[in-house]
Amino acid sequence: MTITVSQEDADARQKTRDILSRFGRTRDNLIPILQEVQGKLGYLPREAMLEVAGFLRIPEIDVYGVVTFYNQFRLNPPGKHSIRVCLGTACHMKGGYITLDAWKRRLGISPGETTTDREFDLDSVACVGCCTMAPVTVVDGKPEARTEPTRVDGLLLSFEHEKQKVTEEKDTIG
Ligand code: FES
Repeated sequence: MTITVSQEDADARQKTRDILSRFGRTRDNLIPILQEVQGKLGYLPREAMLEVAGFLRIPEIDVYGVVTFYNQFRLNPPGKHSIRVCLGTACHMKGGYITLDAWKRRLGISPGETTTDREFDLDSVACVGCCTMAPVTVVDGKPEARTEPTRVDGLLLSFEHEKQKVTEEKDTIG
């Protein structure tokens, strides 16, 4: 049987190995290692977790347990655009969950996930300090005010236009 490894998996393994070479094989290093690997790859793919488990000589499930326990760690690759829906008190009172639901439906993913085309990743966040703008969605690091479902549609439409423009420009150049 031939096992094919994608280039992306191979890259993840190699980059993880490079990071591991700077650490001692002690379990205390698990979290610092995972933080560095995520810093490099943007998330923690299975290949990277396998490398880490092998290096520290611990079961893969232990690594997975730590990754899923701390919400600083991501199991999915980052999307091109990050969508963070604020669920702090003020946003919650102004329908933050309705906003989150709108993003979930439009993108077809749940918080913590990335769309299959890797255009968007979705998550919720605690108060981002712009409560007067509630309900807030932080889009690519920029807080967007009053992101009711119609505003969600508007934001998605502007991404669509942007993408179309880039494609047209490429076609013109090509
Ligand atoms: S609660 Fe959302 S910005 Fe403060």
